[in-house]
Amino acid sequence: MATVIRNPLLIPSTSHHHNPNRNSSSVLLALRFPQTSLRHSSLQFKSRFAVSCCASEPSLRRRPPYVPNRIADPSYVRIFDTTLRDGEQSPGASMTSKEKLDVARQLAKLGVDIIEAGFPAASKDDFEAVKAIASEVGNAVDDDGYVPVICGLSRCNENDIRRAWEAVKYAKRPRIHTFIATSAIHMEYKLRMSKEKVIDTARSMVKFARSLGCEDVEFSPEDAGRSDREFLYEILGEVIKAGATTLNIPDTVGINLPSEFGRLIADIKANTPGIENVVISTHCQNDLGLSTANTIEGARAGARQLEVTINGIGERAGNASLEEVVMALRCGAHVTGNLYTGINTKHIFLTSKMVEEYTGLQLQPHKALVGANAFAHESGIHQDGMLKHKGTYEIIAPEDIGLERTNEAGIVLGKLSGRHALRKRLEELGYELKDDQVQSLFWRFKAVAEQKKRVTDADLRALVSDEVFQAEPVWKLGDIQMQVTCGTLGLSTSTVKLLSSDGRTHVACSVGTGPVDSAYKAIDLIVKEPVTLLEYSMNAVTEGIDAIATTRVLIRADSETTTTTTRALTGETVLRTFSGTGAGMDVVVSSVKAYIAALNKMLGFKETDSSAEKIPISSLKI
Ligand code: KIV
Repeated sequence: MATVIRNPLLIPSTSHHHNPNRNSSSVLLALRFPQTSLRHSSLQFKSRFAVSCCASEPSLRRRPPYVPNRIADPSYVRIFDTTLRDGEQSPGASMTSKEKLDVARQLAKLGVDIIEAGFPAASKDDFEAVKAIASEVGNAVDDDGYVPVICGLSRCNENDIRRAWEAVKYAKRPRIHTFIATSAIHMEYKLRMSKEKVIDTARSMVKFARSLGCEDVEFSPEDAGRSDREFLYEILGEVIKAGATTLNIPDTVGINLPSEFGRLIADIKANTPGIENVVISTHCQNDLGLSTANTIEGARAGARQLEVTINGIGERAGNASLEEVVMALRCGAHVTGNLYTGINTKHIFLTSKMVEEYTGLQLQPHKALVGANAFAHESGIHQDGMLKHKGTYEIIAPEDIGLERTNEAGIVLGKLSGRHALRKRLEELGYELKDDQVQSLFWRFKAVAEQKKRVTDADLRALVSDEVFQAEPVWKLGDIQMQVTCGTLGLSTSTVKLLSSDGRTHVACSVGTGPVDSAYKAIDLIVKEPVTLLEYSMNAVTEGIDAIATTRVLIRADSETTTTTTRALTGETVLRTFSGTGAGMDVVVSSVKAYIAALNKMLGFKETDSSAEKIPISSLKI
């Protein structure tokens, strides 16, 4: 069993990053001075380098008013989040409509300018999710007039574009994003179209999108990173004339190097007729691990919309990650000429956690900014430096991305802690929970506290994801009883009691090769949905024999009626896979919860899709 220490031991902050001179190219060293180090506070070094980032300063700069094809402030960079589209199409990342709505609400809190809410033509469920996000999140205007643009993806065909418009039109600021491939390899083998036909299709489909009443149309020449330059200038010039307001330049296969991608953006800016009337955007895949670097180079070359995803999730190796791009822009303002975004970075950590839980795509511990080790200082030398001065090894204060520092002296929750203390700690961790959610968490918390002296933040996060970040229950776990026989002889036996949503109790018993296997087989006997278990993993949230175990499973339904989705870029129809997580101090209970969570997610999809008016896949192809 792998032990993952999720909660780095961090030293409490006693002051805050602040850099009063951020507009100067010669940046004043503005380190944070812990009270214990006040004797250093008179030191001021001149440096050409940024030595720390300050999250509070950019909020002084207001987000310019939204106009689709123009940004009043040349330093402002729009953040276009495609977690719910490109991110959700990663294998196993399927989210239910409710989960997508939760993520969209959280993205609005984060302050992203544009939410790409999905690919509405992919399935009925995708359509409904985009529509729900457009209707709710796309109309929640805040006191400053901010409301995110809600965008739907479509291939360059009338059916897709109409579906996208039907879904996003409920938003205050709706956008259609349409794309067609422009590289020689894609045009020859995938589209089987001539250059002239591709230009003609792009031009007429942008016009079609505008004719529906959509005033905000984004166009992407797919695989621009491998497309002929002159051809790009030509097609982009044509779609501008046809009414496109944003031109997005994707490095679809993640093959460009940073300087090369920067050059591409600069060349497009210099050579495309009418480019001054649109916003240039980047979309960098991460196949060579260069997506963040490429995105930043794109911004330096003139792109003012950056397409990113939370945690960098996405097709294959993923996309540029929002948290990396936003914090790199902030830390690198002295290099980028003070580019800034409207992101409220304090919401980064919680958004990252939510996406991790809902998609089941777990972060590697060393993931920049949001990984469990991102702010952990293990080595003696580093710890010594940190104790003397945090600026020695820390360029960003964890609080700036919404990560609470904890240490032994912080609040300790234990079995005597009450609801109030629990709620307060959850609020400090960034969770806004309803009373009934706190109530049910409280009983789970009490059960853990009975067995553990100290309930840590990592334990609490595991409980929240088990209790709150779950799909609507179709099946609930009643009880499990096991007769465990370990070793090479004999079989384990499990009896499982499940409660269905109509309140009925179902009991089944099965043998299996081990306790988890027998419990899963007993569940299969009750639920009667043939599924394949694709992945199973378990982590201990904290160290020690009394740790909470979190389990993650990935399943694929095997029945004919299984929900399918159409992949935007390839047009292929694929079976969805569903992840589920569970937490508990008993490893079998944790495993069973994860399996039921995945089944509930899958059954939730089947319910929505059974009422779906099916669109023939063949008619969706370009
Ligand atoms: O990677 C890609 O090219 C895309 C486009 C649709 C923007 O996702």
